[in-house]
Amino acid sequence: MKNNPLPRLDQDEGLRQKLLPYCRLQPGEIWTDPLRGHKVGCLDCTDADAVAHLMDGAKANLAVHDPPYNLIAFDERELADYISWCRQWVELSWQVLAADSAFYIWLGADQNNQFQPLPDFMLMMRDFAFQPRSFITMRNQRGYGTQKNWMAIRQELLYYVKGDPVFTVQYTDIPKILRGYYKEVNGEITENLERSRSENIRPGNVWVDVQQVFYRMEENVSGCYAQKPLKAIERIIQASSEVGDLVLDFFSHSGTTLLSSEMHGRCCYTTDIDPIYSEITIQRLERFRQTGKTGWQNGHPFEADLPTVITELVDTPMKQQAKSEPVQARLF
Ligand SMILES: C[S@@+](CC[C@H](N)C(=O)[O-])C[C@H]1O[C@@H](n2cnc3c(N)ncnc32)[C@H](O)[C@@H]1O
Repeated sequence: MKNNPLPRLDQDEGLRQKLLPYCRLQPGEIWTDPLRGHKVGCLDCTDADAVAHLMDGAKANLAVHDPPYNLIAFDERELADYISWCRQWVELSWQVLAADSAFYIWLGADQNNQFQPLPDFMLMMRDFAFQPRSFITMRNQRGYGTQKNWMAIRQELLYYVKGDPVFTVQYTDIPKILRGYYKEVNGEITENLERSRSENIRPGNVWVDVQQVFYRMEENVSGCYAQKPLKAIERIIQASSEVGDLVLDFFSHSGTTLLSSEMHGRCCYTTDIDPIYSEITIQRLERFRQTGKTGWQNGHPFEADLPTVITELVDTPMKQQAKSEPVQARLF
């Protein structure tokens, strides 16, 4: 079986230099999808002119942002700097979101450092007219921790609204197993399965049914270190937008929001400051259209251009796996 994944791109500057010539976008450039009008910009999402150029007057119905979390694995900044950086892209999001729209942000809390930046971000959000609607926790299957602390297995997702956007109730694949919960309806005593619209439970604000991405999954995009599961993004898109709507994601990385928008008939405008992730985003969409595949389980987006270069750099399968594990999963 082929086994040719990319190692984590953020940890290998030499490899990055080899890949950059194969990236079609230079910083400041935007690719427009000829088929469905999606856009991928190699842009800094705090640059107001760049975002205006991307939007070209359009308004988004939903934004799903997954910024770097200000954890050590990323380029850690002073907390105040990080929050003022967030303020810039939140402000730009407000400007380009429609009057009735949804705003989701994935953000971490570093338990080894005063749980920053999550609470600070929440306080900063009070300066905006966005209204908080939910604080969702997604459970990771694999965590990190010691014998002296609770295993860290959570990812946090904040849900705010501007105006009064759509919300379509979602269901998990988990069957309802508990009976009881009797209630009188029209003089009849009913039990909860009779009253409900689905045999399955709703996800609520604690998501326990989403498999975190790891190298054995088809949707895995090797080289990406912070990929969100398609199932989680699909849930957000289906709950908080409608077919034909415009979805915005300022931090594309592996292009999960774009791919999910494509799958569900939405249009997506997305940015990444890094030409390599911008290229991966475009290639992930193109590959899906050509093959129906959602990622590169045992290969990578640049293998047509650089079939051998990666094997020289990659060591044992165990090391490859460690290198491609999502950062957030280990740092929460
Ligand atoms: C946590 S990852 C996003 C993961 C993504 N949700 C996924 O499923 O693949 C954050 C991404 O933000 C990008 N980024 C960092 N600063 C940025 C900026 N100022 N503008 C645009 N993108 C930025 C990084 O290059 C990185 O790819």
